[in-house]
Amino acid sequence: MHTYSPQIPASLVTALRAAERVAVLTGSGISAESGVPTFREAQTGLWVQYDPQQLATPEAFKNNPRLVWEWYAWRRELVTKAKPNPGHLALVHLEPMVPELSLITQNIDGLHQRAGSQGVIELHGNITRTRCSIDGEPVESWNETGEIPPRCPRCGGYLRPDVVWFGEMLPETALMTAIEIAERCDIFFSIGTSAVVQPAASLPLNAKRQGAILVEINPDETPLTPLVTYSLSGQAGDILHRLVQIASIR
Ligand code: APR
Repeated sequence: MHTYSPQIPASLVTALRAAERVAVLTGSGISAESGVPTFREAQTGLWVQYDPQQLATPEAFKNNPRLVWEWYAWRRELVTKAKPNPGHLALVHLEPMVPELSLITQNIDGLHQRAGSQGVIELHGNITRTRCSIDGEPVESWNETGEIPPRCPRCGGYLRPDVVWFGEMLPETALMTAIEIAERCDIFFSIGTSAVVQPAASLPLNAKRQGAILVEINPDETPLTPLVTYSLSGQAGDILHRLVQIASIR
């Protein structure tokens, strides 16, 4: 089936070339083309019977730490096998083209960093990192005794993935930095996110309120769509690649 690939508006290219500060917020949609299922897509295989929103919670971990640890181990496996796609790579190519590019992601897959993006602001943590569930400090290595979840070598408490669960606070510094970026950018891209989960979903609104151009890249409509300056309906990999390619031709 031919996927509709919209024209890139010339005025958007002009605005991107003129922008001093470009902000980008990505969601799981930008990793979909790397084969990482978006957060709200049905789970597959063993996990099909579980709703992610029931697993990614402190309560789920308290009630069944083994199940939650194994779910993240399965997702970490998926992510490790995944490769950055043209959408991630286009953002790497955009970086040197503009005076300041700030990349904020809700994704925990680390694919932006693996693509080569610098200074990625991770609002929801990173699945490839582990931390002690008691003191929250990162843990790089531990004794594999076969117990699941493994235990913290310092205090003996359970280890957990270094991600933000529903109902948990976001990392303070990351969130404050993201808000500052939204409030001073000239152009704000919302890419591959359903724009419903707070506080990330408020960032494009902060940007619009101070006069930034708002661009959404998503094959589907979201609550943000009616508010944006440019709505590019399609796959991030295709649209971003073409946008950056056209903008790079001076
Ligand atoms: N290119 C661009 N967008 C895409 C693509 C693609 N190839 N494929 C899917 N999308 C869009 C979907 O249309 C959807 O709007 O990506 C969006 C993914 O939305 P969600 O699955 O809700 O993921 P996200 O917005 O990242 O969720 C935000 O909520 O669930 C929590 O912590 C979790 O970080 C996640 C946060």
